[in-house]
Amino acid sequence: MMRSSFLLLLLCHSSSSMLLGWVESPGYPSGYPPHATLNWSRCAPEGHILSLKLIHLDLEDSHDCENDALKVYSGEDQISILCGTVEFEELESTVNPLLISPSGGCLKLLFQTDYSNPKRYHGFRGFYTIHDFDECEDDLSNKCTQFCHNFVGGYRCSCHHGYQLAEDKHICNVSCSKDLSGMSRGEISSPSWPDSYPENANCLFTLSVEPHRQLVLRFSAVFDVQQGPDSQCKDALRIVTQTKTLGPFCGNKPPPSPISTHSNQVQIYFTSDETGENKGFRLHFETIEKVCQSGVIANSKMTPHKQEYKSGETVTVICDVGYVVNSKGALALSTQFETTCQTTGSWFPSYSCEIVDCGLPQIESNSILELVDVPAQKTQYNAEVQFMCSSEYYKLKGHDTYTCNATGQWVSPGDKADMPKCIEVCGVTSNSISSSGRILGGARASLGQIPWQLLIKSPRRGGASLINDQWAVTAAHVVDGVDESMIKIFGELVDGQESDRTDVLTCERIIIHPGYEQGISSNTRTNYDNDIALIRFKTRVNLGPNICPICLPDVNRVMLEDEQGTVSGWGGTDRYRASRFLLYAHISVYSLDTCRSTPVLPKVGTMIFTKNMLCAGADGKDSCGGDSGGPFILPMLSPAGGPYHLAGIVSWGAPCKDGANKGYYTKVQNYIEWIKNTIKGT
Ligand code: ARG
Repeated sequence: MMRSSFLLLLLCHSSSSMLLGWVESPGYPSGYPPHATLNWSRCAPEGHILSLKLIHLDLEDSHDCENDALKVYSGEDQISILCGTVEFEELESTVNPLLISPSGGCLKLLFQTDYSNPKRYHGFRGFYTIHDFDECEDDLSNKCTQFCHNFVGGYRCSCHHGYQLAEDKHICNVSCSKDLSGMSRGEISSPSWPDSYPENANCLFTLSVEPHRQLVLRFSAVFDVQQGPDSQCKDALRIVTQTKTLGPFCGNKPPPSPISTHSNQVQIYFTSDETGENKGFRLHFETIEKVCQSGVIANSKMTPHKQEYKSGETVTVICDVGYVVNSKGALALSTQFETTCQTTGSWFPSYSCEIVDCGLPQIESNSILELVDVPAQKTQYNAEVQFMCSSEYYKLKGHDTYTCNATGQWVSPGDKADMPKCIEVCGVTSNSISSSGRILGGARASLGQIPWQLLIKSPRRGGASLINDQWAVTAAHVVDGVDESMIKIFGELVDGQESDRTDVLTCERIIIHPGYEQGISSNTRTNYDNDIALIRFKTRVNLGPNICPICLPDVNRVMLEDEQGTVSGWGGTDRYRASRFLLYAHISVYSLDTCRSTPVLPKVGTMIFTKNMLCAGADGKDSCGGDSGGPFILPMLSPAGGPYHLAGIVSWGAPCKDGANKGYYTKVQNYIEWIKNTIKGT
């Protein structure tokens, strides 16, 4: 007991510290038990620190103190781990100085022992004190820029004469703000000019004159505002007008003078940091009448063009190409407007020039024509869109890329505003022909081999050819006198009986060539001139591999004598009056002379041959009753063939069983104009 009191006297040398109490291990000093634990913690009030002095430490020693240990924490950080026997002198010199809490924080002890001790150890004992923390001694703990004064539990800052303590109570700055409102001329300079300006200056100079006048600033040649090595401004001058901020300015070159601020209210900010010896700046300000500026309306030009305009002057603002006037709600797209310079230095009226937006191109709903995905907002001036056809049975006619032009239209190269079209792919098959055959002596076609072939089942049996996705062509005599609603026409089949299962193509209109002599029975008809008719379907045919159109011939194509082609249909064969399956036969175009010697039909008489006909056949091969209206195509259907075109329409002929093998066909070439005009006209 004597010894402890003596030590206490020795240790409590600091007058500001106060003994708070003792802490010791369980069973001290007789020895701590196995599995002992002590969890101890004390906290210091604000502005104070807690310190622990160990006067005795006698624990089992082990590597990293893993058996028995006294761990000391300052706040959350472990600051020491102790074990073994440490002499008092050593505790005092190396251990105790470290055992302190953070200012206003806690000190924590964690004492833990394991299951056994080789011998008996006393444990530890220490006392703790609190004392004031001197923030002024520690640069990190106070933020005073000039003077720091410590007191028990805290500190305060103070400033040199001429400075004032800022609101944060730490920074000393110079009061240098001036309100110069109403003054139309004068001088402004950095504090202490022409001597160096002080540290931590924070000045605001406020200038304000009548609304129709503007402030003009002129800097003196001497200009010295501290700049960092990276040319960043350490100290800075900023000029804030009604519309913009100029600066920060620093370095040794004054801002280019004079500065026309175009503003009747200007704020000049000057700030310095805590270092540097620089002279600062000086400027003269005065006022002039406000003027209007060019270039204040984006994306436009003014005519007549000048840098500045006096109040009362009127100009025309012309938007740049691709921009239009946004005159709030006015729908008409205009690219220019007139505006007048006001005494306030602003233009009236003032509209903006905004970029033209074409919007998305208008495409009919459920059209084959489609847009390749357009990114949102990409419909403005100069934006591009790409068209495509959604079905492989069509190809794009025209350009595929369109650009949004300055007048808000989508145009193709060459400035054409007509939209591209998706045109049916014609005359190609996805199913090639295998071997040659016959109708009268014909071979069976498989599905998709003659995909344009249509079957008219009633009221009169015949054939027809699809020529685009909504029109078919047939012989006039097949549909002469037939009501649209009566006609049953099918596609996409080769087995005529399957038509029961296939949808009818709904016929909307039948147009018989005006040159065809209507209403004459085949029993008496000698003239089949212009034996051609068009059928329009109610809806677009859904094109696919088994139904797609045949091409029309080129008007100028020369048909050669002996040229081989293919005729097809469900007409009579040598065995039956009509075929269940679609048959085709390869036949040759006969010479004009052969055609001219027309057959004499029993009961009818001598038939008339006109320039609108061709005749064709082959040994044992011919079209026959029921094939009428069907296609005779060129070139001959073959594996590598196509594109095919419709050279003839089965029209009439010598009785097919009599062996003449001479069929007459409407020469489609002569009707291209009529077909195109008729289709266009509906
Ligand atoms: N007029 C017949 C019909 O309506 C076609 C006759 C074709 N005759 C011929 N020998 N090629 O089906």
